[in-house]
Order: sequence, then C-alpha cells, then structure tokens
Amino acid sequence: MTTRRVVLVRSAAVVGAASTGLLLPQIARAQSSRIRVGFMLPYTGAYAPLGVAIENGVRMALNEKGGKLGGREIDWFKLDDESEPSKGVENASRLVQRDKVDVLIGTVHSGVQMGIQKVVREAGVLNIIPNAGVHAATRALCAPNVFRTSFTNSQPTLALGKPMMDKGLKRAAWITWKYAAGDEAFEGFRDSYTKAGGTIVKELGLPFPNVEFQALLTEIASLKPDAVACFFAGPPAAKFMRDYAAAGLKDKIQLWGSGFLTEGVLDAAGPAAEGVMTTMHYSDSLDTPRNRQFRLDYAKTFRLQPDVYAVQGYDSGLLLALGMAAVKGDFANRQALYKAMETAAIDSPRGKWTMSKSHNPIQDIYLRRVENKENKVIGIAAKALADSGAGCKMA
Ligand code: PHB
Repeated sequence: MTTRRVVLVRSAAVVGAASTGLLLPQIARAQSSRIRVGFMLPYTGAYAPLGVAIENGVRMALNEKGGKLGGREIDWFKLDDESEPSKGVENASRLVQRDKVDVLIGTVHSGVQMGIQKVVREAGVLNIIPNAGVHAATRALCAPNVFRTSFTNSQPTLALGKPMMDKGLKRAAWITWKYAAGDEAFEGFRDSYTKAGGTIVKELGLPFPNVEFQALLTEIASLKPDAVACFFAGPPAAKFMRDYAAAGLKDKIQLWGSGFLTEGVLDAAGPAAEGVMTTMHYSDSLDTPRNRQFRLDYAKTFRLQPDVYAVQGYDSGLLLALGMAAVKGDFANRQALYKAMETAAIDSPRGKWTMSKSHNPIQDIYLRRVENKENKVIGIAAKALADSGAGCKMA
C-alpha cells in the first residue's frame, strides 16, 4: 500500500506543477518513460497468503533483472481484490481506467479473473495471470494480450486419475468448493480417473470459502470409498486436512488432491498432511540447481518458504522482463512484445516450460507425497502437459 501512496503523491505533485505552468518537458518525458504495473491480487480473505507469495515472486524476478523493465523504471500499483467475484470488473477497471496501468498482474480466484478478462479484453491492456485457472481465460475468451503463467484448473487433476488407479484405488469420492476452480478441477479428475477405469461414487461440495467440512466428512465416512480426491487451497486446505484426520478418516481412506491442497500450508496442517498424495506443476523438493537457488534466495529475502504461488509470480516477472527486453522497453511495439512472450521458454524453478498457442503453460505435472513437511517428488505424472485451448481464437 505504501507504493501506491508514493505514486499518488508524485502524480499530485506533477499535476500541481502543470497547473502553475511549471511542468518542465524533461519531467513530462521522465514520467511517461516509466512503466505502470498493477497488482490485482487477494491481500485479505482465504487466499491472502497466495496473493502475497505471488507479489513477492514477481518482485524477486524483477529485482534479479535490475529492477527495471526494458530499461524503464517501474511504478507499482496494488489493489486488494478480496477474492470477491462481484467486484472483479469494478476493481480491474480501477487499475485500468483510474491508475492507467500498462500491465495488470492478477489474479488468484477464477471468478475474479472473469471480471479482469472482460476489462482487459475491452481495453487491450496486457494481463499476466499468475494463478487463476479458469478455463475460459485461455479457451473461449483467450486474447492476444492475456498470458497465463500458472495452469488451467483441470491441468493438475488430469494427471491425478491414473496414479490413483495404479494404487488400486477403484472407487473415489470427490470434494471441493463449488466454483469454477473446483468444478473444472473435477473435470480433469473425472476424465483421467474414469479413463483409467475408476468409479466416482459421489461429488461433494460447499461454497467458497466455507470451512464447515464436518457434515461432508460424515458422509464420506458412510460412503467408505477407497480414496477421496479434492481441490482446496490456502489456509482452509490445512483445516480440511486437520478435520479429515480428526474425523478418523486419514488412516482408512487415502486422501489425494490437486497439489494446491498442500501448498504453503504444511506447517499449519502438521501431521494431518503426512502421506497425502497430490499432482502439481511444482514441488518444493525438486532437486535442481535452479530450484535450490530460488528457494534459498526467496527465503533470505522474504523470511518465508516459497510455494507454487511464489513460483508462478516469479515466472510472471520473468515473462514480463523477457518481453520488455525483447522490445527494449518499447511497450508500444505490442506485436513484437507479444511474440516474444508467446515464444518464450521459461527457465523456472518448476522446470522449463513453454507457452501454448492459447497462452497457457505446457509443463510437467509431478506426483508428490507429503513427507516430513515436504512435498516429495515421486515421479512425473504427466510430461509436457498442455491444456486443450478448446475454442480459443486469437483476434
Ligand atoms: C482459482 O480460483 O482459479 C484457484 C485458486 C487457488 C488455487 C488454484 C486455483 O490454488
């Protein structure tokens, strides 16, 4: 928030100078040569830690590149979207219309992204999605100015069904928050699990961001499936795992999920998370020089352990820096900027990935098991997995 105030104070000073006829041409030039980058992320609510991790990641990547974009200084803007879909359009418009950002980095929640999508498609503003997996963003509503550095909601769970069946878990119940992220994660799970021969005995859901899991856990206990698969994220995911264990289910019915379940919450979940199996495009335990260095630097800078959200933020920063370097800061050269971003190969802590034609990562999905408060990599569950991009027509 400090950053935002700094920017406002500065623009007020410039306006004051202009009205008294004192605005020197060089000041005007210096102002316009700065690039305006806005964060629209959750800083309150269930996804607040996710927003913080993403911002940290972006800042870290850009600091590594000298703190500039294509040689231009950056003015930062921040807006708390509260993961509130009903305010999505209004909040995105604030950044675009009022703050006149050149780049909008956001957001986490799929419903809020739908609002951003509408605004940036109309305004033609560059949008980098550092998390929200809503299918439409890189399918029917894809756009030349929208790039996602994270995943589609069904990408991690498309890799979930087979390893469950490989373990002989033939009957599963599904549980999630009922909104796009959970519903589309279910699509990936349903397709992969039934294709591998599994039977889904029940779909259970509750509204986002409710954490009253008890009645649903009782239902799971009476259904007695071989396994439960789920989508939850953020601190409520830790509560889900704790409640699951407290309900006596942990040792009876294996818990699987898309990997968000165990991202950034392993301390909070404690022993309840041990043994939980997930699929995800990142793992803290990836033993590569790139990941080890990233984790060391992030922990030193922010006094926090990075998670998948930090990585997605970091990669968003890398992607933007790469595009801006390719056009030497000439943001008006959109065609070349987007071309560079489209053809980027990102050397990420998650492993190398490239952009699909519909602007979503083509990436490996790892199978992981929680061991000693770490997401231990068991293997690669899907190699270079791309989203279908169904219905995407770039204008
Ligand atoms: C989403 O709403 O798209 C979403 C939120 C949190 C996650 C993953 C997806 O961890």
